[in-house]
Amino acid sequence: MQVLVIGGAGYIGSHVVRRLLDAGHKVHVLDNMYSGREENLFPEAGFTRGDILEYGPLATLMQQGWDAVVHLAAFKAAGESMVKPEKYSVNNICGTVNILNAMSESDVRRFVFSSSAAVYGEPEYLPVDEEHPARPENYYGFTKLEIERILSWYDKLRGIRFAALRYFNAAGYDPEGRVRGLERNPANLLPVIMEVALGTRERLDIFGDDYDTPDGTGIRDYVHVSDLADAHLQAMDYVSAQDRSLVVNLGSESGISVKEMVETARRVTGEKISAHVTDRRPGDPAKLVASSSRAHELLGWRAERSDVETLVRTSWEVYKGH
Ligand code: UD1
Repeated sequence: MQVLVIGGAGYIGSHVVRRLLDAGHKVHVLDNMYSGREENLFPEAGFTRGDILEYGPLATLMQQGWDAVVHLAAFKAAGESMVKPEKYSVNNICGTVNILNAMSESDVRRFVFSSSAAVYGEPEYLPVDEEHPARPENYYGFTKLEIERILSWYDKLRGIRFAALRYFNAAGYDPEGRVRGLERNPANLLPVIMEVALGTRERLDIFGDDYDTPDGTGIRDYVHVSDLADAHLQAMDYVSAQDRSLVVNLGSESGISVKEMVETARRVTGEKISAHVTDRRPGDPAKLVASSSRAHELLGWRAERSDVETLVRTSWEVYKGH
């Protein structure tokens, strides 16, 4: 298939591009390089530097007749979204509407969308399945949920079949070391730990150790980015073969605490990794773990590289080279 990957130079996007190329698809990347990295561009894929907020060039690119569009171009810092909602409205919501409008104009009917576990908000029960109420607690999560709602209308009215992939916590790097670009100014746990191990950041702030969890620190469902990349391929195939849309969680179904991640990183890297406990970060639930049984049933997908050791080791392989 000919696939347009929007945000394909980013952290998750570049892993998705790699996976699509490995599977023999023709890939073209559209990225504004705001958080994308040059070194994440693969020579086998085409590349256009451009922004989803510029409708004209986007619509022209869309006319090239893509079999599917994978869209990962979004802002994703939950905390920032609460103080800069306008930025998230414009890029995440308006940007996606532009893509969908360009798709319907050019008769492109398959769409794979990066959604998030942030659509659920504070969990009412665990593990969180797709039937769990969606009440986002941050504006970022709201933008993802709103786009899912728009998608279901474009499905009905324009026949655009979509896969909304609700990622839990993406982490790790390509185990074969083919993705080299580091995220700029990361706020997520594992890249922050890696920067401390590397010495480019002084220490890790552990946001609270008085949660109702075995070691008191927050527990999340970390899913390896290459597992996520597999799911994009499987979701694209599902949407094409079944001519039907789907919404699925992508998680490993197991929880890792902040302390467990830090201790594993100390062991794997051999570095001290200075860490101290600070206040809780507002809006952080104690524990978030996915049920991914729907992804397993519909896509045959399961996380296979998402154990704490592999997450840390594959990240360190890339970080230590910088
Ligand atoms: C959040 C979003 C998630 C989104 C992701 C992308 C929610 C509930 N989750 O995940 O949907 O896709 O951001 O950025 O909105 N921690 C520290 N110190 C740090 C950083 C993190 O202790 O410096 C802890 C957090 O308190 C948390 C865990 O590590 O317990 C993971 O945090 P983080 O990596 O920021 O991801 P989430 O907030 O879970």
